[in-house]
Amino acid sequence: MPWHVLCSLLIIYIMKKILLLTDKPFAQVAIDGIQKVVTDAGYELKLCEKYGTDMARVTRVAADVDALIIRSDKVTPEIMDAAPGLKIIVRAGAGYDNVDLEAATQRGICVMNTPGQNSNAVAELAFGMMVMAVRNMYNGTSGFELKGKKLGIHAYGNVGRNVARIAKGFGMEIYAFDAYCPKEAIEADGVIPVESAEALYEICNVVSIHIPATPGTRMSINYNLLNRMPKNGLIVNTARKEVINEIELVKVMEDRADLKYVTDIMPDDHAELLEKFAGRYFTTPKKMGAQTAEANINAGIAAANQIVGFFKDGCEKFRVNK
Ligand code: 3PG
Repeated sequence: MPWHVLCSLLIIYIMKKILLLTDKPFAQVAIDGIQKVVTDAGYELKLCEKYGTDMARVTRVAADVDALIIRSDKVTPEIMDAAPGLKIIVRAGAGYDNVDLEAATQRGICVMNTPGQNSNAVAELAFGMMVMAVRNMYNGTSGFELKGKKLGIHAYGNVGRNVARIAKGFGMEIYAFDAYCPKEAIEADGVIPVESAEALYEICNVVSIHIPATPGTRMSINYNLLNRMPKNGLIVNTARKEVINEIELVKVMEDRADLKYVTDIMPDDHAELLEKFAGRYFTTPKKMGAQTAEANINAGIAAANQIVGFFKDGCEKFRVNK
């Protein structure tokens, strides 16, 4: 075989392939940015969007890739096995409950997230939903104002901090509970730390949920917590549906005709909630907290840079599996 043909084959062989696997596509401007990072590094970008339930398409396109950039896309052991060369998965976003971490670790695959990159977008949506709810879903009747109301931030991470920043502009009294964040850090932002989730729900007129879905938090927002809220309590969930005990949510909303629940993650019992609590329940049709051009650019480009750093310098900052 001629030398130049051999060289070309070698380059193709060593050129890393990165698959942007996003059922919910990024804005084109973000894809262009990711493409630039990948091309500048001498790698190739593949795209698989809007695949829905077509897992055969996913496994086919993943077969020769070295890296995955995903959003809320589920990465199962089957997908990992379909991509024998896979070395790294970067969740372009915060929550990585959609990746089977144990399976990744077993296969020697590094999993990372891109913390903070989309948090302002989620926080802004939380306020959009808050205003809509206190103005009775814009049905023309007399509602409430946020000014002077007590806002509870359930988990004080990147999104929670942005929620606190925006809440100051609304003139709200801001409280936060976070089992892992030192109370001094919360106080430094002019936010009042509380000792427990129970206390947060008891004090606050509005609670904005920002806890991740982990074995410890799944279904942890239950009747006992929600029933503690003052009259006309509003719960805003832009985190995960899994953290809500949906059966108990229905029960508490049946018992308390004053409570409202608005969410960016459609509950499994959406039809029941819609039927029973019209005007007190709202969900976006598709999770859209992080669906802004800015968040797509920030998280997508960070993910691409992290992959390049991983392959070129062995950088494992933001690795979430051991
Ligand atoms: C996250 O965990 O970063 C947010 O929930 C956004 O998820 P998305 O990328 O699926 O919109």
